[in-house]
Amino acid sequence: MIKISPSVLSADFLDFKEEIETMEKIGVDMLHLDVMDGIFVPNISFGNPLIKSIKAHTKLPLDVHLMIDRPHRYIEDFAKYADILGFHFEAGSNNAETLKRIRELGCKSCITIKPCTEPEAIYDLLPLCDMVLVMSVEPGFGGQKYLNSATEKLKKLRAEIDNRGLDCDLEVDGGINGDTAKEAINAGANVLVAGSYLVGSPELEKRVEYLKSL
Ligand code: DX5
Ligand code: ZN
Repeated sequence: MIKISPSVLSADFLDFKEEIETMEKIGVDMLHLDVMDGIFVPNISFGNPLIKSIKAHTKLPLDVHLMIDRPHRYIEDFAKYADILGFHFEAGSNNAETLKRIRELGCKSCITIKPCTEPEAIYDLLPLCDMVLVMSVEPGFGGQKYLNSATEKLKKLRAEIDNRGLDCDLEVDGGINGDTAKEAINAGANVLVAGSYLVGSPELEKRVEYLKSL
């Protein structure tokens, strides 16, 4: 079953209560929240105060994607409101410890790789992950084009997860639309992040239905 995690990056933060309610009604599975620090990625988005407000307003699980330098410094803070807490392999030093800490704090753990990172780099960490996120664009901005190199990475990670018999979701993020979603799912992804394709679209409901039918 495919899970949908709309990224609210492009939403109007003073005016997206209703859209969150609509997303709940039409059955999205979680909300994807992109935290950017202007250092690990060349953009700044939002931090925990907004996540706290969203948490108070929805029962949907919050899928927090940290794009911040040395994420271990902030795990305790973000674990207060996140349900799934993910950070970048490239941004930290002791990634195994950070993954363990996330689980100890009661969240699902997720490690994320940028387009420059090969999937083999995280194989040893897989038993510590409840989800793996493959970036299919350079992290930092919504509305970019899906990079085909992500497809092969998804295939490799799906095979490794299945061979090891792990219960680990495989998420893809960046440039997901009706066509690229098919490609990613065929490669083994089971969680789709979609920003510009869903959020703010008058076809939100139809598109979610379509993605879930794939
Ligand atoms: C990019 C973010 C994505 C982004 C996706 O760094 O991690 O979650 O919001 O946006 P689209 O779906 O428009 O590529
Ligand atoms: Zn993201």
